[in-house]
Amino acid sequence: MKRIGFIGAGNMAEAIIKGLVQKESYEIRVTNRSNRSKLEKMQEEYEAIPSSLEDTIKNSEIVLIAVKPKDMNQALKNIGDFLASEKLVISVAAGIPLKLLEKHFPQNPIVRAMPNTSSAVLSSMTGLVKGKKVGAGEEKIAEEIFTSVGKCLWLPEDEINALTAISGSGPAYFYLFTELLAKAGCELGLCKENAETLAKETIIGAAQMLSQRDESPSQLREAVTSPKGTTEAALNIFWEKGLEKIVSDAVKASKDRAEEMEREFCSD
Ligand SMILES: NC(=O)c1ccc[n+]([C@@H]2O[C@H](COP(=O)([O-])OP(=O)(O)OC[C@H]3O[C@@H](n4cnc5c(N)ncnc54)[C@H](OP(=O)(O)O)[C@@H]3O)[C@@H](O)[C@H]2O)c1
Repeated sequence: MKRIGFIGAGNMAEAIIKGLVQKESYEIRVTNRSNRSKLEKMQEEYEAIPSSLEDTIKNSEIVLIAVKPKDMNQALKNIGDFLASEKLVISVAAGIPLKLLEKHFPQNPIVRAMPNTSSAVLSSMTGLVKGKKVGAGEEKIAEEIFTSVGKCLWLPEDEINALTAISGSGPAYFYLFTELLAKAGCELGLCKENAETLAKETIIGAAQMLSQRDESPSQLREAVTSPKGTTEAALNIFWEKGLEKIVSDAVKASKDRAEEMEREFCSD
């Protein structure tokens, strides 16, 4: 049994705990700032042990920090009072760089992780960044934790804001497209309920194709686009009206905002 302590008991902590419970190889402790009923819920649903901050840290080999970025400075100070140097620290806080985490815990192996909201259904795409003291054993543990809520990949820290722009913010892009597709269906005379069902089930089916087939997205697209057919008629409009540039500008804006947020949090 590995012992893991969660600092923060919100949406992200719950999603990861839900995944980890299925591994049946973790003893889970959880602490938060003040919301007792949330800790009780975590105990009822996942057998996570509600503990004080001190007990959570002292009784865990892995400390996973899942508090909001704005609360990180305070949380890091509090954690530092109890943290021994051999413990693996994992932070999922968006915009908080290793530099800041390593300033607080210079002796600890630290992993910075960037999951996405699909963790809630165990389908996250998570980016992982290694701190200076992380060895093969800690790498394996981090991979095990994040594969319990989906898939993960390692990348250098200077690529994490690009990852945020693609997979971090990405679920919302596909929700927006689904919303717009349903709205366009209504404009064609479908009732709202049918239009939403058609749009939603189509994106789910397309995602399954991407997941289960070996073909690339462009190969799948080409396979369903007959010359002079209905799909081609629609895709021509996407190309002509500049969808490629819109997508490129949008992800650039997301990356720029991630960089700006990182600067804000590190200026304290
Ligand atoms: N949600 C996502 O999809 C997502 C995706 C990627 C990354 N993240 C990152 O995950 C982190 C958590 O997000 P979330 O959505 O789970 O937030 P959340 O639901 O608001 O939960 C935050 C948790 O932190 C606790 N907390 C705040 N200050 C604390 C302190 N000083 N000591 C101990 N616990 C403290 C809160 O306790 P109380 O409730 O008692 O105040 C709460 O349990 C954020 O940094 C976010 O950037 C989230």
